[in-house]
Amino acid sequence: MNSTAPGYTYDQTLAPSPVSMGELDELKASVAWTDRDRAALRRAGQILVPRAEEILDVWYGFVGSHSHLVGTFAAADGQPSGEYLAAVRKRFALWIRDICERDYDQRWLDYQQEISLRHHTERKNQTDHVDSSSSYVPLRHLIALVAPVTLTIRPFLTDGESDGAQVDAMYAAWLKAVTLSVALWARSYAPSTW
Ligand code: HEM
Repeated sequence: MNSTAPGYTYDQTLAPSPVSMGELDELKASVAWTDRDRAALRRAGQILVPRAEEILDVWYGFVGSHSHLVGTFAAADGQPSGEYLAAVRKRFALWIRDICERDYDQRWLDYQQEISLRHHTERKNQTDHVDSSSSYVPLRHLIALVAPVTLTIRPFLTDGESDGAQVDAMYAAWLKAVTLSVALWARSYAPSTW
C-alpha cells in the first residue's frame, strides 16, 4: 500500500481539533473502549491492511449500488465522477491502516476533525478540487454506514484468524473504533450541541 496519497494530510501540519483529549476519553468510555481493543485492532490491521483493496471493492460496490450514496461523488453534471471516487479511495485505504494502527493521540484527533470537515459543506470537494453537484454528505447516511462498514469486515477477519474468540475481539474493537470515528466526524454538523 502507498503510505501517502494526494490530499492525505495526516502527517502534515493540521489545525487543532476543537475536541479536547478529555472529550475523546469520555467518548472512548462511551463506546466501551479498553486497552484490549487497541491490541485487537493492531492484530486486525495485520489481516485487513494487506487486503484493503478487496475491502474497498466491497464498500465501493455497496456505495455504487445506491444512487443516494454514490450521488455524493457526483461531478457538476450530477453523474458519479470516476476521478473523484478514485482519489478518495486512495485515502480510504490509508484510513483502514490508520484506524487499526495509529495511536488515538492529538494528531489522530486533529485528522478526525479534518475528515469531519471533508464530509461537511465546510470542506467537501476542496481536497480533490472537484466541481460537484453534492455539497455535503448527509449526516444520517454518515451514521448509517457504520453498519455496512462493520458487517462487511467480519468475513475478512474470519479468513485471517481461526480462533473465534480472537475474531470476536477484533470485530468488537473495529465496531468501537468506527463508531468513535463517526461520532467525532458528526461534530461539524452540530458544533454547538455536539
Ligand atoms: C462509516 C462511515 C464512513 C466512513 C468510515 C467514511 C470514510 C471516509 C474516508 C476515510 C474519507 C477520506 C478522508 C480523507 O480525505 O482522508 C471519506 C471521504 C468521503 N466520503 Fe466518507 N465515510 C463514511 C461515510 C460516508 C457516506 C455515508 C458517504 C456518502 C453518502 C460518504 C462520502 C464521502 C465523500 C463524498 C468523501 C470525499 C469528501 C471530500 O470531498 O473530501 N462517506 N470518507
